[in-house]
Amino acid sequence: MINRSITGTTEQFTATVRVPGDKSLSHRALLFAGMAEGDSLVTGLGFGLDVAATAMSLRGLGVTIDHGRVRSPGIRGWHDPTGPINCGNSGTTMRLLAGVLATSHVSARLIGDASLSRRDMNRLVEPLRSLGGRIDTSDGTAPLTVGGATRVTGADVVIPTASAQVRTAFELAALAADRPSTIDSPPGFRDHTERWLTATSRGSFESETRFRVDPGPLPPARYDVPGDPSSAAFLWAAAAISRGSSVTTPEVSLNPGRIGFLQVLDAMGAKIEATVTDSVGGDPVGTVTVTGQDLTGIDVDGELVAAALDELPLVAVVAAYAEGITRVRDAAELRVKESDRIASVEQMLVELDGGIQTFEDGFDVIGTGFLNGGIVETHHDHRIAMAAAIAATRSSGTVEIVDSNIAAVSWPDFYETLGALWS
Ligand code: S3P
Repeated sequence: MINRSITGTTEQFTATVRVPGDKSLSHRALLFAGMAEGDSLVTGLGFGLDVAATAMSLRGLGVTIDHGRVRSPGIRGWHDPTGPINCGNSGTTMRLLAGVLATSHVSARLIGDASLSRRDMNRLVEPLRSLGGRIDTSDGTAPLTVGGATRVTGADVVIPTASAQVRTAFELAALAADRPSTIDSPPGFRDHTERWLTATSRGSFESETRFRVDPGPLPPARYDVPGDPSSAAFLWAAAAISRGSSVTTPEVSLNPGRIGFLQVLDAMGAKIEATVTDSVGGDPVGTVTVTGQDLTGIDVDGELVAAALDELPLVAVVAAYAEGITRVRDAAELRVKESDRIASVEQMLVELDGGIQTFEDGFDVIGTGFLNGGIVETHHDHRIAMAAAIAATRSSGTVEIVDSNIAAVSWPDFYETLGALWS
């Protein structure tokens, strides 16, 4: 286990940084390409361990992947893996693959690391079984046994959370059905999958949130994965809490389900400039510049929570450096991420002498404008490790991040990139 120490600075920075390829889109591009028969090309793939887990999983099913070149016999030509498929720390790999496999002829067992093995997989069971998909859990968690379906029928389901993973698992499973299916959920989810299915004529939105899947094969294609806004968010936060500092991140995904954190920073008083420059697979892509100014606490709840979901630990850090109280609610999903992120964030801020009170579905951060040094436990959660590093950039003391290398799950050279902001 490697620990890392970071000491705060009052120096400002101005930088332009290209962030790694979007994790959500990298998983999806590999899966879409792997399901299609023929040759596809994926450029800009994220290089974190989570995306590598999806690539390894597909290889085990008969797909060849070499530097973004994907060659597949198509899902109908996939074979049973020779052993369990190891999804590592990646909830997206496990849930999306469970969907794809549940309604396929392939039989597989999906396993994960200790953190992933604690996460809820029950949420997949009803939607996938309603299609005739096969999925069994071990008391609602991994290992999962999936696949070997004999009859796949269309279904109409409504799920209680705005989960893009569950929606995608269902939608990809429903491509194998004998008639169209629909799925509905609360709003705010990242709709990357729906945009790709729409672009390839495999479905369309029937309302703001209800999507219809038209069964059939996916075509081989070229995907140019844009930068990851959930990675860029750490740099945006570093600029936001450093008055006068500024960071520009070109070519990041600006999918509406991904930019809640920019709305939060804007409402807190940071200067945000975002320009859409392109569109990839139906997803808007653009350049974002964040400049630090005086920040004040705000309320974050409702739809905004889903669109800022992975960034809520960062919201807590930024809120500590703001004036006044920031209230985050409707975020009970944070309890079931790579760690219980409400508890992890509380432990981090208490350790750094910040003010925080937690609730079942969120937290209040009492912004004082400063944090001290201390030792932060990351609980095998990459976003907690990286949020601690951002807290450390302005802390009045040294922050030691325990098991700091867990950041490699989404961003292997994160600490080097962060340090280079000031060079
Ligand atoms: C993801 C969806 C979100 C997000 C996760 C990636 C995706 O999870 O937290 O990091 O790529 O679909 P939920 O679907 O559980 O909200």
